[in-house]
Parts: sequence; C-alpha cells; structure tokens
Amino acid sequence: MRIVRIAERVPHQGVIRLHHLTDLHAGAPDFAEAEFLERRALIEADPWARWTMGGDGGDLIRHSDPRYELTSLHPRYRQATDIRYTTREHLVELFQPIKDKCWGWADGNHERQLDKFYGGKFGVEVCCDLGLESRYLGYRGFAAVSVTVGQRDAHMGLLIDLQHGWQAGRLKGAFLVQAERELGMTDADVVLRGHNHQPAGRVFATLGVTHPGRGPGRVVKRMRTVINGGSWRAGYRDDLAPVDPSRLGEVEGDLWSETKGYRLEPIGGPVLILRFDQGYTSRRGYRPCGVEHTLVEGRIDAQNLGLKTT
Ligand SMILES: [Fe+2]
Repeated sequence: MRIVRIAERVPHQGVIRLHHLTDLHAGAPDFAEAEFLERRALIEADPWARWTMGGDGGDLIRHSDPRYELTSLHPRYRQATDIRYTTREHLVELFQPIKDKCWGWADGNHERQLDKFYGGKFGVEVCCDLGLESRYLGYRGFAAVSVTVGQRDAHMGLLIDLQHGWQAGRLKGAFLVQAERELGMTDADVVLRGHNHQPAGRVFATLGVTHPGRGPGRVVKRMRTVINGGSWRAGYRDDLAPVDPSRLGEVEGDLWSETKGYRLEPIGGPVLILRFDQGYTSRRGYRPCGVEHTLVEGRIDAQNLGLKTT
C-alpha cells in the first residue's frame, strides 16, 4: 500500500470541499459526460475544492474482451483501434483542468482486468500523463493530509483511506452495515469507496480525548465519514433511435444496468465539506480544535455547496 502525503493551509474555520469521483467508466455508452463536466466546472471554480479518484475511470472493454460487443462502446470509441490509448487520452482530457486539486488516485477492477489480460499499468500511465504520479495509490492506499490552520498554526491531520471497494449488496441498508465495518477496519477519518455504483455517505461522530497522554485532556468528538462515490454511468437510456433494417449494426444494445436489473441511481456522489477549527478558550468557554464534517447529497451545485453564485 502507498501513502500519499499532502500539506494544506486553511484559515481558521476555513473549509475544504472534497469530491470523491469514482467509476466514470469513460468509453461506456452511458458515461454521463455532460454531468461530469458540470461537476468538474464546480471543482475548477472553487479554490477550496479537492478531489479523489476511486477507480474504474475507464470502462476499458477491448475488442478481444469476452464482454465486448460494438454497442458496449460509446460512439466516440467505436472507430478506435486502441481502446487503451483512446481511454487514456479521454481521461487526461477530463481531468487536466483540475489536476492540481487531486488528493489521491486509485485503480478499480476495470483497470486491473485490463492490466491482467493486456499488460501495462493503466492507472499509473494516466497519472503520469497528468503529472499526478505522486498521487497514485494503487488499488488501496492512504492520503495523509496535514492541514495547517489559522494564524496560530494549529496542525491537524486528516487521514483518508481510499479503495475502489467491492460489492456490498444491493439493498440501501447494506451501505450502513458496510460503513460501520469499514470504520472498524481502518483508523482513517474519511473512508472513500466505489465499485457498486450506489452513491451514499454517512458522517459518524466518535468519542476521543484531546492530547491523549498529555495533561488531563477533554472529551471531544472525532468525526469520521464513509462515502461511496456512486458512478457517472447513467445506467438507463430513454427513447433510442428507431430500428433501421438497413443499418442493423447501429442498433443500440442493452446497458449493463438494464441487463442486471440494477436500480436507477443519481449520477455522481456526495461532497464532504470539512471545516477546520483551530480551537479557542474565551469567556464563552473552551472549544477544542477539530474538523467538522458535513455531507452534501442529492443535487450538487454551487448553491448547495455554499459557493457564491453570480
Ligand atoms: Fe465501476
């Protein structure tokens, strides 16, 4: 496992908005590129936005893959002779404008499958194209973020456990059961997962003590969050073109979700707003330093994220 080390400086009570981007499946016929670009525009415009990549960036179904059929590729990919290269080019195009805000990049099972059968190291290659090799984590790793807060230079650590993940069951309750397991299996403050294409997030408050081993200490809450970033595949399509008997090669096939019976999900995942408080003692009392976690779910736009809208 790799650890990516990151240093950030924020003002007292300043925020960082963390977008967990995962399971784009670029190259799939239902990759929701327009929605992804809307999210990218929010990240690009927000100086305090950061993002992580959770894997399955590309769908990466090659012509010799048993899962291949012409309509399992997005039209942009249908004439491509090298799916690997076309996907790499596409991902670089998608992430280039926001590359400086990346905290970590993980591989998914689609990258692993490609590497296994066709050689290469797809995730690393895309990271190198973007100049993000120092952010590459493999299938699972940690991003250890050290945040300097306010004028008193309080240091706060934020540990992120990033992994593509595995199937946790189709029912909505499965996420909460799995989220509690995840918290018991890692010491991280923020656990980021993907893979099952069901966006979800939960903030947990856990108990802790300030400065353990030094002085009397005070009981504080330590916030921890588990997020599944969902997917940027639309899952279902509406109103396909009517069949033209002279062009049967162009008749669209069924989507993965349609054949598997997966439920329709929102596109993309929640955003975690981290508020850094350096703490203070005043006549009004004592407030320990800490990081407040707030999840924004559902529609993600400038207004819901508390960004200035013009
Ligand atoms: Fe996926």
